Amino acid sequence: FSSSSPYDLCVIGGGPGGYVAAIKAAQLGLKTVCVERRGKLGGTCLNVGCIPSKSLLHNSHLYHMAKHDLKDRGINVSGVELDLGKMMQNKKKAVTMLTKGIEMLFKANKVDYAVGHGTLAGPNSVKVALNDGGEQTIEAKNIMLATGSEVMSLPGIELDEKQIVSSTGALELDKVPEALTVIGGGVIGLELGSVWARLGSKVTVVEFLDSIGGLGIDAEVAKNFLAILKKQGMQFKLKTKVTGVKKVDGLVEVSTEPAAGGETTVDKADVVLVCVGRRQFMDNLGLEAMGVEMDGKKVKVDHNYMTNVPGVYAIGDIVQGPMLAHKAEDEGALLSEYLATGKSPHLDYNTVPSVVYTYPEVAWVGKTEEQLKGEGVAYKKGKFVFGANSRAKCVAEEAGFVKVLADKATDKLLGVHIVNSMAGELIAEACVGIEYGASSEDLARVCHAHPTLSEALKGAAQMTAFGKAINS
Ligand code: FAD
Ligand code: NAI
Repeated sequence: FSSSSPYDLCVIGGGPGGYVAAIKAAQLGLKTVCVERRGKLGGTCLNVGCIPSKSLLHNSHLYHMAKHDLKDRGINVSGVELDLGKMMQNKKKAVTMLTKGIEMLFKANKVDYAVGHGTLAGPNSVKVALNDGGEQTIEAKNIMLATGSEVMSLPGIELDEKQIVSSTGALELDKVPEALTVIGGGVIGLELGSVWARLGSKVTVVEFLDSIGGLGIDAEVAKNFLAILKKQGMQFKLKTKVTGVKKVDGLVEVSTEPAAGGETTVDKADVVLVCVGRRQFMDNLGLEAMGVEMDGKKVKVDHNYMTNVPGVYAIGDIVQGPMLAHKAEDEGALLSEYLATGKSPHLDYNTVPSVVYTYPEVAWVGKTEEQLKGEGVAYKKGKFVFGANSRAKCVAEEAGFVKVLADKATDKLLGVHIVNSMAGELIAEACVGIEYGASSEDLARVCHAHPTLSEALKGAAQMTAFGKAINS
């Protein structure tokens, strides 16, 4: 990359927040450079997060279907065997192709790419310790911090990424553990726990709270989700805390006790996955020296993502809001638009969807019932189960339901919650509806193709708007 003339924008971090921001800025005419230390673009999401996990989730599901479920559909297959090496190769191929794809997008959009660790050296200056050795200083009118997040363990539990693993190690196991203990029943625990359960592990999830699914999940959904995963064979120890993890004779001993205190139980596992949240990654970023203000563990920004240091901005996992790739992407693109045009587009955080990519998937947007009750909002609720949806019936995907929440007085959509094998795709319609201020009656009156799973959303909207649905 060239550093002879100053840049309009230097982005530190090439994850979904940073790389999207860099491309958008260049497309809008800003001279842009992106600094990334990993040696590969795409950040957590492409390298050790969304993409490799979804590859393993999809293929482990197909394996499980072939091994256990196809016969119920009238398809007899024999000799189904797992080739874990090949499954991992497929995952690697998807990651490599996608990360290389971003390099090509950088070239096509004329984004310069500096491979190394960036540190703030002034309000308009970034020092880069190049991975190939040496140091270079980048001068830029604006600096965008998009350094994301990193795995985290519990105090006293050391990750070796072989037997005591984080999500990164759990994406790379070279054999199926006989027993896998998952510490944390949030999104990572349920997704990666599902992968290994489908491939044959006896999976036990230890969760501190009395419910699963992580932050922001609706309680009724979480209950239904728990029942489905239990039926699939995953075991859960809720309201339980881990008090110790130690390696003994080739196994890992996990000590737990009730969250409220009580007797200790010791269980043995071949592998332990620790997934109790992630920490913001801001190591050696120069924040303190520059006097950048923090908001708890995250960087404090204003409505235009600017820190208290003019010209220095931050987006993605290091700022407030859910730690999700699509949230980081949208923030990055919006900020670049602001820097290039002076216009101040905004992201409606209420319409950022959440999806857990288990089988079935769980997806939601807007408010949960608990949030509405907490806020004192009078709401009405309509539910439609997939057992009454014709497409779900004919493809045997009957687990789950759609729940539509709308304002009692105005009928404005407030939240939509879906449990279904295609929930992650179905939720997009609800996002558009909420963003454009639709009512449940609007959704109920829109023509939906037949037979599709999306008719269940229409059915739930009919229940909300009219108190009755045609098909239930
Ligand atoms: P990151 O993706 O973390 O990128 C930051 C980048 O900055 C990194 O590549 C890092 O190397 C680099 N960097 C850091 N400091 C410096 C520095 N000083 N100089 C240069 N480079 C630096 N989200 C979803 O929406 N959907 C999913 O399905 C999903 N699945 C996930 C599965 C797993 C197992 C995990 C761990 C996460 C998953 N996430 C998912 C979360 C998602 O990956 C993150 O929210 C997202 O990657 C955040 O984007 P970001 O750009 O803020 O940061
Ligand atoms: P999480 O916040 O979703 O879940 C962590 C869980 O661990 C919580 O339920 C918490 O109660 C529990 N926990 C905490 N300490 C514990 C302890 N000592 N003992 C037992 N349980 C304990 O965090 P997770 O799963 O690590 O994921 C991190 C982030 O990655 C999430 O914020 C999520 O946004 C993102 N992610 C998103 C995905 C998606 O969108 N599909 C997939 C995977 C990750």
